[in-house]
Amino acid sequence: MATWSAPGKVFLFGEHAVVYGKPGIAMAIKPRVQVTVRHSRYFQKPNSPYIAECFKLTDVKGSVYVKSQLPSASGLGSSAAVTVATLFAINDEFELGYSREEVANLAFDVEKLTQGGRASATDTYVSTFGGMVFIRGNEKRRLIPPQNFSIVIGNSLIAHNTGEMVGRVADLLQHSPIVANGIIEAIGGVTMEAMHNLENPKELGVLMNRNHALLDAIGVGHPALSHLVLAARAAGAYGAKLSGAGGGGCIWALCSKGTRNRVISAIEDCEARPITTSIDTEGARREKDE
Ligand code: PMV
Repeated sequence: MATWSAPGKVFLFGEHAVVYGKPGIAMAIKPRVQVTVRHSRYFQKPNSPYIAECFKLTDVKGSVYVKSQLPSASGLGSSAAVTVATLFAINDEFELGYSREEVANLAFDVEKLTQGGRASATDTYVSTFGGMVFIRGNEKRRLIPPQNFSIVIGNSLIAHNTGEMVGRVADLLQHSPIVANGIIEAIGGVTMEAMHNLENPKELGVLMNRNHALLDAIGVGHPALSHLVLAARAAGAYGAKLSGAGGGGCIWALCSKGTRNRVISAIEDCEARPITTSIDTEGARREKDE
């Protein structure tokens, strides 16, 4: 029996555009998913398509038990964390000998397969290695997280489907390529500006708001997310934007220590769930078997 855990993530900048080779910035966060895999001759097809794909790809048979502190279908990378933790546990239990890098690549293959062929390596890479990461195509760079990076997440409690939202952007690209390409290009530009302003919360907040507006323009917004970002900004956050695929799920707000509690209350007033969290620098790790 082998038990591994992997962290969730917040998509700081660049989601959707990152699928088309533009830059993205994401950060691993504390809530984790824990997966136990046990060698077994009796194989029951797992309910999760991600876990089923992990077993199929590695060609092994076993039982699996998942314990998650991460809300699913919320833009906090729970499917990637499940995939990463399952693959590490399989690798360990069946002594397959994959390196960390190889497991990250396998996890990306699983995400791609279950997301209809369109995915970036962001979630799976961040969940595998932890920390704050810059991704552009095959380029992956670990960033030094800024000092006093205080964030509050707001979960709208509206479930979303990543594959569906990624498909929506693909449709727009097909039907309105000039508009859609322009927005994707602009999101890439905002992400590069954010890279140069990571230590400047005021400017970063302005860029978050711009990134959110562009995500709205590309069709992945939701009235509940608009409500949440406006409430967080009105409560004094430097900026707020959705995280991940959109269409529901979570927003994140950048706060000073002094405004954090007000932003938390503003999120609660929207009947959403605030999550206070911080960076997870560890990535996937082996846990004690229970
Ligand atoms: O909502 P999540 O956590 O699945 O994030 C999706 C991020 C996208 O950029 C929309 C897709 C991807 O594969 O990067």
